[in-house]
Amino acid sequence: MKDEVILALESSCDETAVAILKNGTELLANTVNTQIEDHKRFGGVYPELASRLHLKNITKVLSYALSLKGFDYHTITHVAVTGGPGLPGALQIGVMAAKTIAQYLNVPLISVHHLAGHIYANEYVTEFKYPLIALIASGGNSEIVYLPSPMKFEILGETEDDAIGEAFDKVARELGLPYPGGVNLDKISRDGNIETFKLPRPKVDGYNLSYSGLKSHLVRMIQKEPRDKDGNLPLDVVKRYARSTEVAFVDQLLDKLALAAKDYHVSQVVVGGGVSANSYLRSHVKEVFADTGIEVMIPPLWCTTDNAAMIAKAAHHMIEQGKLAPLSMTSLPNRALAEE
Ligand code: KG4
Repeated sequence: MKDEVILALESSCDETAVAILKNGTELLANTVNTQIEDHKRFGGVYPELASRLHLKNITKVLSYALSLKGFDYHTITHVAVTGGPGLPGALQIGVMAAKTIAQYLNVPLISVHHLAGHIYANEYVTEFKYPLIALIASGGNSEIVYLPSPMKFEILGETEDDAIGEAFDKVARELGLPYPGGVNLDKISRDGNIETFKLPRPKVDGYNLSYSGLKSHLVRMIQKEPRDKDGNLPLDVVKRYARSTEVAFVDQLLDKLALAAKDYHVSQVVVGGGVSANSYLRSHVKEVFADTGIEVMIPPLWCTTDNAAMIAKAAHHMIEQGKLAPLSMTSLPNRALAEE
């Protein structure tokens, strides 16, 4: 049988990424160019700059991935691309490049949902056992999803306001930590002995989540703290807020995840998205499920940030299910996972 070779592209936010996946398991190339340094001075992702940088870098990232020793690009059988959700201009660059390559090579195109990619990133470390529950925690999303079978998604719960990553970034900025806030907040709060503040627990129905109230409460508390003559907070105060934020935000997420896993009688839980890199989440999620008989999977760190390897994995299942996209496809910045 002919080998399946997927060339995958991802450009939904601030990473330009290309990967090559052979027969669903052999990751031949995985190249990521991150724009984090370029967005730092704006304190967050500046969408227009993101689009320009994707445009500037996409051919370089593609050439790098394709320059793999002994690889013949004529062996590519499918081109996959993140078709949404994401920043409109940013998505467009990856989609245009993918369409061009698919047309040139005369191979089918697959349009992948970005969050399906974050979920399927876990398949690089474990085999999925359906039905399962996936938790997606990122800059733009906080969702608890039920997967009865491959590539079928039922949203059980989602944030009613801010996403967890977005809320992390806002509190981190208030503490004077550089972008990306969540990452730096995690770095300074790894000491489990830091005493945490008692914070209110949001009361949210079902499996839904809420971060806006907690975020505003923390911001107000931080604004009342005394600062030095340069406007900086003492390091021990920053650490205490960082640890308190992390514990309050992640505990809410894990409480709802545990509830959903119990109610839906799943034997496996998978975690994905940028926030799944968080140290407290990574250690605590194992404790939460320790005596439940439920297997917990967290992706390797390299797979928590945006990359195209995860897009290729999801595409592999879409090919099995015959879910191909026409060359006339467009990117969908607000694409819904439940409609996949
Ligand atoms: O999934 P992602 O790379 O981008 C999308 O939103 O699609 O997630 C980025 C988010 C940012 O808000 C960042 O601050 C957060 O993930 N993040 C973290 C950590 N690493 C990334 N938050 C807490 N702890 C981390 N270690």
